[in-house]
Amino acid sequence: MIFPEDFVWGAATASYQIEGAVKEDGRGQSIWDTFSHAPGNVADGDTGDVACDHYHRYGDDIELMRELRLAAYRFSVAWPRIQPDGEGPVNPRGLAFYDKLVDELLAAEISPYVTLYHWDLPQALEDRGGWTNRDTAYRFADYAEAVHAKLGDRVDNWATLNEPWVAAFLGYGNGVHAPGRRRAADAMRSAHHLLLGHGLAARRLRDAGARKLMLVVNSSPVLTPAQVNDPSAVPSEADAAAVHRVHALLTRQFLDPAVYGTYPEEVLEAAARNGGTEHIQDGDLELINAPIDLVGVNYYNPCVVESGPGLPADAAWPGSEDVRFATADAPTTAMGWPIVPDGLSRLLVRLSQDYPQVGLMVTENGAAFDDVVRDGRVHDDERVAYLDGHLREVHRAIEAGADLRGYLVWSLLDNFEWAEGYRRRFGIVHVDYATLERVPKDSALWYRDVIVRNGL
Ligand code: FCB
Repeated sequence: MIFPEDFVWGAATASYQIEGAVKEDGRGQSIWDTFSHAPGNVADGDTGDVACDHYHRYGDDIELMRELRLAAYRFSVAWPRIQPDGEGPVNPRGLAFYDKLVDELLAAEISPYVTLYHWDLPQALEDRGGWTNRDTAYRFADYAEAVHAKLGDRVDNWATLNEPWVAAFLGYGNGVHAPGRRRAADAMRSAHHLLLGHGLAARRLRDAGARKLMLVVNSSPVLTPAQVNDPSAVPSEADAAAVHRVHALLTRQFLDPAVYGTYPEEVLEAAARNGGTEHIQDGDLELINAPIDLVGVNYYNPCVVESGPGLPADAAWPGSEDVRFATADAPTTAMGWPIVPDGLSRLLVRLSQDYPQVGLMVTENGAAFDDVVRDGRVHDDERVAYLDGHLREVHRAIEAGADLRGYLVWSLLDNFEWAEGYRRRFGIVHVDYATLERVPKDSALWYRDVIVRNGL
């Protein structure tokens, strides 16, 4: 099973999950600092204060990436390092870190893929309403431009936002993520302002000469329980309506405005019933519809739903009245997430049909398991099986015509898994949090061989 010649192989991380050094070189506070330090929000009271200490160990980490033969490394920039208060003059010491990181990646022949927002909003902006405040979108565009001004001469690939659905609906809807607010109306507003920020930033970056622009979404195929194991299963009319609605709320809410400049009617209805639609101003959709080159797809598992007449909306899913979120009949990872590899090919084929004008890249895919180090090795057979299964589906999607440019595994390192803290290990490289020692797991060595062979 050989992949296209120019297929890009790599790994992904995010600033708050790996960097640590939260008080160094003038970094301001982010909503994740505040949230993780408040008792009860994160498992075991974990915080990102030290994380993988990548801020100090990035040189060794790049050496590791080189040994693993990665061609691309997707990382995110911490906005509070660049503008400690979320606006105003840039902090040169914060930018200097990413400047060195990019230079060393290029010296190791690894292409940097920069994500501008992976959830660590400056707390100062949250204090003024965060993403519920329209002004935050404009602040984001300024910040994006400042980062591009420093790195744009060497970085080709730019992602604006990571997973705006998660940022809006887990951050402002059910409160499982920072800033921990719980109001459907706030989530709907935040989602729109995130999109506006994406459009404004994409336009500024394009004007400044950015070569490749990307929006990264958490997308999943939405399936009925029967469709999980039988793609040809025909759902009842009511179940099909639930599937259609949730697909609109999860994926089309973001990609339709970005690619077509329109909102699905399900999203407008959900907004109308949760705080109203006044925040969607004339001209916004045109701004959001900035030309992009790629959609980044983060896939972990399918979203399984069926109709359940008269159900209240799920806290994270305004507009999902009458929908029951079901479980898949499939084995699960340590996160409890069902393992359904062919969900990935079904998703990629669908996205390539619905949005043919953009290329696709798998910007995250991977799994957490309860890894143990024995005699300096981690035999993570389950992760190897997970990755192998999903890569076969990536290949299948390419054969079926999807314009898929690359695959980035989540994650390079075990790291701070948001509300789950450090107990969930997604890395292909093990991190001992007491010593911060890195040990490549069997999956890392396996992945290196996949990259070298450009196939399975
Ligand atoms: C995604 C996030 C990423 C990581 C994985 C497991 O939703 O983008 O930071 O936590 O899930």
